[in-house]
Amino acid sequence: MDKKSIDKYRYFLKDSIRLMIDFHQTDQNRGIAPPAIEKPVSEERSIVDLVPVSTLENISHVDLVKAIAHRKSHRKFLEQPLSLDDLSFLLWATQGIRKKVNEATAYRTVPSAGCRHSFETYLCVLNVSGLEQGIYRYLPTEHKLVFEHNEENLGELMVEASLGQPFFGKAPVSFIWTTIPYRMEWRYDIAAHKVIAIDAGHVCQNLYLACEAINAGTCAVAAYNQSLMDKLLKIDGDEEFTIYMAPVGKV
Ligand SMILES: Cc1cc2nc3c(=O)[nH]c(=O)nc-3n(C[C@H](O)[C@H](O)[C@H](O)COP(=O)(O)O)c2cc1C
Repeated sequence: MDKKSIDKYRYFLKDSIRLMIDFHQTDQNRGIAPPAIEKPVSEERSIVDLVPVSTLENISHVDLVKAIAHRKSHRKFLEQPLSLDDLSFLLWATQGIRKKVNEATAYRTVPSAGCRHSFETYLCVLNVSGLEQGIYRYLPTEHKLVFEHNEENLGELMVEASLGQPFFGKAPVSFIWTTIPYRMEWRYDIAAHKVIAIDAGHVCQNLYLACEAINAGTCAVAAYNQSLMDKLLKIDGDEEFTIYMAPVGKV
């Protein structure tokens, strides 16, 4: 291992990086308007209503201790669809909004450094009752989905973009989280990137635990082909790029 490179990349994990930042010069402190908390929706896209979490009936009230003890990574799923109720619950648990403060700030079901929440949630839907196959995006402020696009052989493209991990071709739905780093950089400059990575962990852990309440399972995935995955989502790979993935299905 090259010690110099190792030291360089370890540095990103240390909070000493803040000493290099003049916080008076961050975009936030220079009075630049905060970035939007959610990507806008193109007008021609169709919108799908999700089920409000307060009206969900089929979510069992699992014991938290049991859910934590039982959590494990699942890479095999039953060949049955996920319901829209289940999906609504998982989206709420991972990125749902619990309190909107103003146009620039909203508290969610997961924590985020400075409440900056840099993620967008995309779904590769292969088998969800009531939804046609395709790539969707969650709209947390409205608790809705926007249908982004479909591709022929979507399952196969997912497997290819995930370096051949076969479960992405079979999972009824796969979560793909992207980051829009500027949402965090606006406040933290070059200290943004460590906390973006930490934030991603909270989101996926909530997905693992929420799956316990609906007899489903998931597996955190950080190994994928960056350019193929970004291309599949039709994102630019620079101002927004894939950071983490997780297939979900009944187990
Ligand atoms: C950051 C991260 C990245 C991971 N990436 C992958 C992956 O690319 N493919 C995979 O099959 N599992 C992946 N996993 C799952 C781990 O292999 C799994 O969590 C580990 O073996 C422990 O098993 P458990 O989750 O059942 O406790 C990842 C887990 C984490 C937290």
